[in-house]
Amino acid sequence: MAREVWKNQFGFILAAVGSAVGLGNIWRFSYMTYENGGGAFLIPYLIALFTVGIPLMILEFSLGHRFIASAPLAFFKLNRRWEWLGWWAVTFVMFGIVLYYSVIISWCLNYLFLSFTLAWGNDPGSYFFGEFLGLSKGPGELGSVQIPILLGLAVIWFLNWVIVHRGVQDGIEIANKIFMPLLLILTTILVFWSMTLEGSNVGLRAYLTPDFSVLSKPKVWVDAFSQIFFTLSLGFGIMIAYASYLPERANLTRNAFITAILNCGFSIFSGLAVFSILGYMSVETHKPIEEVVKQSIGLAFVAYPAALSLLPGGALFGVLFFTSLVVAGLSSSVSIIEAFSSAAVDKFPWNRKRIVTIISLLGLAGSVVFSTNGGLFWLDIVDHFLTHFGLIMVGLLEAIVVSWFYPIEAMRKHINTVSEMKVGAWWSFLIKYFIPAILTIIIVGDLINAFKKPYEGYSWQALIFIGVDWLVLTLLLALFLSKSPWEKEVP
Ligand code: ALA
Repeated sequence: MAREVWKNQFGFILAAVGSAVGLGNIWRFSYMTYENGGGAFLIPYLIALFTVGIPLMILEFSLGHRFIASAPLAFFKLNRRWEWLGWWAVTFVMFGIVLYYSVIISWCLNYLFLSFTLAWGNDPGSYFFGEFLGLSKGPGELGSVQIPILLGLAVIWFLNWVIVHRGVQDGIEIANKIFMPLLLILTTILVFWSMTLEGSNVGLRAYLTPDFSVLSKPKVWVDAFSQIFFTLSLGFGIMIAYASYLPERANLTRNAFITAILNCGFSIFSGLAVFSILGYMSVETHKPIEEVVKQSIGLAFVAYPAALSLLPGGALFGVLFFTSLVVAGLSSSVSIIEAFSSAAVDKFPWNRKRIVTIISLLGLAGSVVFSTNGGLFWLDIVDHFLTHFGLIMVGLLEAIVVSWFYPIEAMRKHINTVSEMKVGAWWSFLIKYFIPAILTIIIVGDLINAFKKPYEGYSWQALIFIGVDWLVLTLLLALFLSKSPWEKEVP
């Protein structure tokens, strides 16, 4: 069967932006920025965007486009010893990141409905951790499954399945052509609404006033770089697969700039709504803003609901806010499923629709562990290991393989032949020297930290059993998939 192509470049850009813009932009970005010095965080964030994010986005687009292949096939064609790297990316993303990612979308879906009656009552913190998650004492105690979360998960996986099952043009492209404008409208309403509230300036000041002293802390830099990977969907194998559906002439560089800048602009923009609301709450409750924004993962589910309860029209605001999270999350989760499906279809003589059905069912089953009473702990550990070590490691190796095991100038020539906007020798320099160097520093620094102090005070057993094992097992699965013989003729 001929490979599908996007109906037009606009459809491709929307899909790439849809993948990039996700929970990471609204939920993760806001608390990362706050935790890491407010406005000052934008400095390492923008440095990471321009020196690593955009060059790697151009690289991933060109890999998919040049080899007309998903990640494993692209690496196989580039240098067959590296096929496993493509498999590893799509495997830990499909059997790791999307499993807990869809659980967070399920929380958002639940909160969308809870918003109608502001059902969390006067104490959203106890509601979220107590009634809603039924949080256990630690990762060692999984407890039972929370039924509303499981029901939400079933809906999310059904929607994932419907969209990806319909294919690139009729599923993913159409869904994003609906989701992205909807998301923009919802977010714009939320930003303007929240900025008119009394106290919004207090929140905005906390969000945007830089605390430059944080720039000397390595953690801030590590967070900025891993956030850039997560938010731009780099190291996931997604952008490679999406670019493989582009027609022969495609403006790769321009598309990469547009995708990355729209994505990061969206993060900064939606942060205005998040912090205006928190500022409003701080003024209403006469509490300093630091007390209002104590939560990290819980920011959207504790601090935000508390503010909604105070706000006239809070129910409507809540419905719009959680709808925007669901929409943003779905357009990203489908891209992960597509990255794995296209990899499987490229290698094995399997029917695409059947693969999508099987992995959606496996995905649903795998998500269940994160919907248990201990699920939040698991989610926190798996997210930490996969984003810090998995994504950055893939990005690092990707840059090394393309520049040291392949003539990088041939890749640059390809980019410049098909794109109107040309990349100069600076791009090759960044990919060959700068990115490997900076990402090695980040990973080594992160490893040293990991050995010094167990992440978030979890026990070593929990970190090894859950976090490290997750990386190792997906790596083994990836090696297994890369060692199986090609059942299709390599085009
Ligand atoms: N890029 C997606 C996000 O930011 C995964 O949520």
